[in-house]
Amino acid sequence: PEATHPKTPHSSPIPDSSNSIPPLSLKIGQKLNEGKTKQIFELVDQPGLVLVQSKDQITAGNAVRKDQMEGKAAIANKTTSCVFKLLQESGIKTAFVKQHSDTAFIATHCEMIPIEWVCRRVATGSFLKRNPGVKEGYRFTPLKMEMFFKDDANNDPQWSEEQLLESKFCLAGLTISQCEVDIMNRSTVAIFEILEKAWATQNCTLVDMKIEFGVNVKTQEIVLADVIDNDSWRLWPAGDRSQQKDKQVYRDLKEVTPEAMQMVKRNFEWVSERVKLLLEPQASGRVVVLMGSTSDMAHCEKIRKACTSYGIMCILRVTSAHKGPDETLRIKAEYEGDGVPTVFVAVAGRSNGLGPVMSGNTAYPVINCPPLTPDWGAQDVWSSLRMPSGLGCSTVLSPDAAAQFAAQIFGLTDHLVWCKLRASMLNTWVSLKLADKKLQACSL
Ligand SMILES: Nc1ncnc2c1ncn2[C@@H]1O[C@H](COP(=O)(O)OP(=O)(O)O)[C@@H](O)[C@H]1O
Ligand SMILES: *[C@@H]1O[C@H](CO)[C@@H](O)[C@H](O)[C@H]1NC(C)=O
Ligand SMILES: *[C@@H]1O[C@H](CO)[C@@H](O)[C@H](O)[C@H]1NC(C)=O
Ligand SMILES: *[C@@H]1O[C@H](CO)[C@@H](O)[C@H](O)[C@H]1NC(C)=O
Ligand SMILES: [Mg+2]
Repeated sequence: PEATHPKTPHSSPIPDSSNSIPPLSLKIGQKLNEGKTKQIFELVDQPGLVLVQSKDQITAGNAVRKDQMEGKAAIANKTTSCVFKLLQESGIKTAFVKQHSDTAFIATHCEMIPIEWVCRRVATGSFLKRNPGVKEGYRFTPLKMEMFFKDDANNDPQWSEEQLLESKFCLAGLTISQCEVDIMNRSTVAIFEILEKAWATQNCTLVDMKIEFGVNVKTQEIVLADVIDNDSWRLWPAGDRSQQKDKQVYRDLKEVTPEAMQMVKRNFEWVSERVKLLLEPQASGRVVVLMGSTSDMAHCEKIRKACTSYGIMCILRVTSAHKGPDETLRIKAEYEGDGVPTVFVAVAGRSNGLGPVMSGNTAYPVINCPPLTPDWGAQDVWSSLRMPSGLGCSTVLSPDAAAQFAAQIFGLTDHLVWCKLRASMLNTWVSLKLADKKLQACSL
């Protein structure tokens, strides 16, 4: 792959497979960086973006063992693309922009923070060596975080938070201080939990994972960068180490024979096939918003919009439990009749009969989201709160929160929805942290 990318700028003949941002061919510029597994090229016409090119080479023990494996780059590319797509659709900030070819993708240009963040659910590998007495299989709840300084000459030593703080790295103008360290720590946990949830749909245990962050040179934002591929995690199908599908298989080889390399490659292919399934919905549900009157339409549209942001279908209907109870029950039967998991949201002003009547007559969850008015709101809300025995409807006042609560219900079985909720929690936490940092800087 190196031969096709001379160091002087030229126009690449590689056609672009998708139809979004970049033009049909890329002007590949200077090689900015090269490591054990990939090369980074500047893109002449797209400042702020780079091309990340995988090499057909597999390494272990810091490149002591080095074998070419044909097709590995393509598999790694596929794995990275799918994983980054999942993370990005969930709402995690990453450097990944789009796939370019079998072995390359376009990313935002970052200055990389030279730390590998390791996150573990199950104790195995080097953790056991560093923590004698802990048996393989010990489960970390909460997740165990570790960091390693990327320093090949010294075999990537484990670092403490204090060591990272004291080295005062400055990347793309951003100094890595406590705030940035906390953001990376929190983000690593969220990213692990999202990938763990996704792999669980394939009956596969995400045992541990290592990732790297970069600072976007344009925005100075900390984003997940580099790649996530077979070299980045341990995956145990059905939680069984003997079926491991990750690079450990390669590290464990006593002798590198063509047959053994075929097995490693088959394993990698297993992952790259499964990884596509992580993007597929495992369950599909819907929200049905019932409004007592079209005068509540604006309130209901907000609920629909928020549902859509979670990827949940949302249907709006008009019915009054006071004035047309037969229709209310008929509509209810319509949605009970096709087997699609449904959450009902009842939007009725003044006296909310709609939610309670629904709740008394269906086993599906019912969320009251009454559009309260300043004049009588404080009194009206009791019609959503005080219920006869046997009813279990909830009441949520803001339309966004009603959609979020419905998403949390679907998130129990739909990992794509759960992942969006999880990333949103992280992003809120990061925003608060950055707002505080900015305020502190201003008041100095
Ligand atoms: N989006 C990016 N922008 C700039 N540099 C990147 C980006 N993604 C990865 N890199 C860097 O490219 C280099 C090559 O990657 P790799 O072969 O994995 O190196 P290493 O052997 O150090 O792990 C690394 O220094 C990596 O941090
Ligand atoms: C990798 O390359 C292929 C090549 O076609 C491209 O279509 C794809 O989008 C890229 N990502 C992965 C992995 O497949
Ligand atoms: C990450 O954060 C947790 C919880 O605050 C802390 O216990 C842990 O030491 C941190 N890990 C690293 C590697 O900084
Ligand atoms: C998932 O793993 C369990 C073992 O933990 C196994 O019994 C079950 O058959 C597997 N299911 C699928 C769909 O592979
Ligand atoms: Mg690397």
